[in-house]
Amino acid sequence: MKKIISLPVLICMLLAATYFTACNNNASSTLAIVNEDSIKKEDSVKKVLARGEYLALHVAVCIHCHSRRDFSKFSGPVIAGTEGMGGGKFDHTILDAIPGTIYSKNITSDKETGIGNWTDDEILRAITQGINNKGDTLFPLMPYANFNHMAKEDLLSIIAYIKTLKPIKNKVPPRELMIPISMAYPAPALEKTVDGNIRPAETDKVKYGEYLITMAACADCHTPYVKGQPDFANVYSGGNTFTIAGFKVASANITPDSTTGIGTWTDTAFINKFNACRQEKGYNYNPGKANTIMPIVDYAGITDGDLKSIFAYLQTVKPVKKLINKYPK
Ligand code: HEC
Ligand code: HEC
Repeated sequence: MKKIISLPVLICMLLAATYFTACNNNASSTLAIVNEDSIKKEDSVKKVLARGEYLALHVAVCIHCHSRRDFSKFSGPVIAGTEGMGGGKFDHTILDAIPGTIYSKNITSDKETGIGNWTDDEILRAITQGINNKGDTLFPLMPYANFNHMAKEDLLSIIAYIKTLKPIKNKVPPRELMIPISMAYPAPALEKTVDGNIRPAETDKVKYGEYLITMAACADCHTPYVKGQPDFANVYSGGNTFTIAGFKVASANITPDSTTGIGTWTDTAFINKFNACRQEKGYNYNPGKANTIMPIVDYAGITDGDLKSIFAYLQTVKPVKKLINKYPK
């Protein structure tokens, strides 16, 4: 197979390690320079990991889908200690449009049941093209079509971060589909590599907001499904009903329609929705039937600046007039 990525992150780490060894053996004059260099390298490794952690936990919410969740609390926060172990079950009892039973996979570094033996190239291909290390197509509930739009540096930082997840032994059952994978939405495997992808400047709020909202796959829940297919003409207008552990909730209309969407919201109101879940008291209670499937506890870690960009982008989509009852009977 053609190599699709280089390994700058790993090389950085190796370099840092070499410099450390060098430090121990060298005279003090070169030591100062070498030290400065190794500190810089170390800083850049730290930066990469911090960016990866931010994206994996809060924007691309990899950890949210690939861990166990506690739906006796608001928005089903991730159960501590299960990060990356997989086994999250998705089936038609949750949403009609899901044609079978699919489990999120173990993405910890466990060699036997996780992805500890995968190369970075294989992980990148799974995340962005939906092909696993055996060449099989992943079910597109894993948002690889979205991640295919991400800049490679962001993807590499996520990969660097998930490789630091504590290995957990957990064998995930295979999926069972009622239709051939080729019929699954949107396109089974993607040919396009991510080499040419560019991350928009953060100052371009609308563009950067679009970049983030694509990574966060907000449309996966907020775009209505008609006969099992997403109705892109009415993107973000909501109305999908999810049934989970004793409650029903429909995704909201987040188009800028002024009466039925969020057209009259300010960016502060938008930030406040997330801000409410930044502290434990915002989610550590049993909301009964007023619960949600939106992983808002995870998204709550998105910075105010990034939330503003997402909001700025949402204000540019087509307004759709459609009243949603968020808690249907
Ligand atoms: C909406 C839920 C969801 C999100 C978000 C998500 N995944 Fe997944 N992922 C899945 C599911 C479900 C599968 C299994 C698909 C299948 O069995 O066909 C999967 C499969 C994978 C696989 C293949 C593992 C294997 O053993 O085949 C990798 C690697 C992976 N995901 C990594 C990630 C990373 C990294 C992110 C964040 C950038 C992420 N996922 C975000 C649901 C998700
Ligand atoms: C797993 C499905 C899911 C995902 C992913 C999701 N949402 Fe939601 N969202 C919902 C549901 C269901 C509701 C209605 C219940 C509630 O308010 O939580 C909702 C409500 C909302 C609301 C409240 C609107 C109102 O009128 O009260 C906003 C704003 C929102 N979502 C924005 C987003 C953004 C932005 C993202 C991506 C960062 C996102 N959602 C991702 C399911 C989802």
